[in-house]
This record gives sequence, C-alpha cells and structure tokens, in this order.
Amino acid sequence: MTAKISIIGAGMTGATLAHWLAEREIADLVLVDIVEGMPQGKALDLYEALPIINKDVSLVGSNDYAATKGSDIVVVTAGVPRKPGMSREDLLTTNANIVMTAVENSLLHSPDALFIILTNPLDTMAYLAMKAGKLPRERVVGQAGILDSARMRSFVALETGVSVENIQCYVLGGHGDEMVPLTRHSNVAGVPLRDFLPADKLEAIVNRTRKGGGEIVNLLKTSAYYAPSLAVAQMAEAILKDKHLIVAASAYMQGEYGLSDMFFGVPVQLGRGGLERIIEYDLDDEEKAAMQKSAAAVKESISILHTLVKI
Ligand code: APR
Repeated sequence: MTAKISIIGAGMTGATLAHWLAEREIADLVLVDIVEGMPQGKALDLYEALPIINKDVSLVGSNDYAATKGSDIVVVTAGVPRKPGMSREDLLTTNANIVMTAVENSLLHSPDALFIILTNPLDTMAYLAMKAGKLPRERVVGQAGILDSARMRSFVALETGVSVENIQCYVLGGHGDEMVPLTRHSNVAGVPLRDFLPADKLEAIVNRTRKGGGEIVNLLKTSAYYAPSLAVAQMAEAILKDKHLIVAASAYMQGEYGLSDMFFGVPVQLGRGGLERIIEYDLDDEEKAAMQKSAAAVKESISILHTLVKI
C-alpha cells in the first residue's frame, strides 16, 4: 500500500475507524494508544480478519509514535468520551493536553501529515491541533458535519420511509447543541425538506439532530463511535483519492461566513492537499443568526482553551 494512515487513540472510535478503513483497502494503518498491549491486540485481531475478505493492508498497533513514521494522514481520536449528563465542552480540560501531545508527537515522525481531528469538543480541538502544530489551515480538518448530516438524513428516512440515497441534508456550525441543520438546503430527491414534511415533524428532526450525540450517550453510557468513525473514513478516502469531495467539516475560518480565527462546521472541498476550499452558502437572516449563535459557543470554548494551554 502506498498510503499510510495513523490513528491516535485506539479506543472505540479509533478501532472502529481502523475497521472501516481496512475494508476499503486504501492505506496501511497504525493504531497508537497509551494502554499497553491494547493497540497491538486490536491491530492483530483486525489483521487476522482481513484474509477473510481478501484485503491486503498492513496493520500495526503500538504505544510508540515511531510506528507512525511517514503517515499521510493522522487521525486524532485520543481523549475521553462523554458520559451521560456531560456536554462535549465538559471534556475540554482533559482532552486539550491529550490532543496537543498527540499532534506534537505525530509531527515529529510525519512532518507533512494532514490531520483529521475527532476528539471533542471538536471545533476547539481542531483549532488546538492547528495552533499547537503550527500548521497551515489546509492540513487540519475536524470531523463533525458528515456525522451530523448523516444523523439528520437517517431521521428524515425514518419519518418519510424514503431511501437515504434520496435524502440530502446539510448541517453546519459548531459540533454542539447549537449546530445549524439547514432545512432550506436539505431535500428529498430535490424537493426541499420544508415542502416534504410538515413543520412540526421537521422541527422534531432538527431538534433530534442537534441532540443526536447525547441521545446515543444516554443509551450507551459513552460516545457514539460507528457513525463518527465512518465519517472520518469518508474524509480520509476523499483526501487520499484526491476526490475534491464537498462535505461538511470543521475548518479554520478566515473571513468566511463573517468568522475568523476559529474552527467551524462549513462545506469544505477535500482533496490530496487536504482542505481545498470552503464553500459559502447564501444564507437568509434566520440561518445567519443561527450560525452566529453557534459560533458564539465555539468562540467561548476557544477562549477557555487559551486559559488552559499556551498556543
Ligand atoms: N495518547 C494516546 N491515546 C490516548 C491518550 C494519549 N495521550 N489518552 C487517552 N488515549 C486513548 C485511551 O486510552 C482510549 O483508548 O484514547 C482512547 C479513547 O477511546 P475511548 O475511551 O473508547 O473513547 P472514544 O469513544 O473512542 O472517543 C474518543 O472521540 O468522539 C470523540 O467524544 C469522543 O473525545 C472523544 C474521542
């Protein structure tokens, strides 16, 4: 395999991501974790599964970043997940140091790597990764929008009985409860969602989407991992295959949507160089206000981050 992806944090999302990626056979994979034996064991188990589906992927587990040498993409999932009653912001203090260490150590061995951040609070951790690594914005994206949009699509499918293939949803903004499901841009086979569903049903879907992560945490007693990790796999594949794919993801803002010096969920185009461009939707006043409200929450989180770490 010519490409290499390292996954820092071999817990639920990290290991599940390795599973999705191995099935796609797009890169050799390295799992790194601080728990001794665990990344090695998971990597070996997954490696031993691959002959069953005839996939040739090198899979290495390690507690040492040296194994990540020469990675094209580093995915950071290291950190603590939520427990019931916790918001993503409650993870900030603990996860900031973990993410900073992960980025700095990864760069020692892969100075040219692109980073996909998954650790929460997502937008703040992506910001931290870029600043701590002194990276250009092209090289850091955060996964959130594909997941939030997929959740919304699944709720629309449940409500309408229509195939998810026909359902397009766009969820922008920060990856918190103030995220912005864009009902005006979302559609079922080209028919705007607002025309397809009664207002009360649509509102219920918007609310469920916003709280989609919490719904899983309440059931599972920990964070979701199948959907978040599959969303990362889609981003990694778009990058390695230079697809120029437009998806919602967290990116560093330089004036887009009137926002600067923060990460925020927007439509981005992904290719081999990472973030290729940010697409700006023409938002109406209501949508702009929702984006501003969501941005205020992310800015607040970033200002707390600055009190915790020197970047
Ligand atoms: N370096 C490497 N790995 C670490 C470090 C570190 N400094 N600190 C913690 N880890 C590892 C843990 O040992 C654990 O195996 O990160 C892993 C996290 O896995 P889980 O606890 O299973 O959590 P997960 O569900 O994967 O969520 C990780 O992703 O979606 C977000 O909110 C979620 O922030 C959380 C992150």
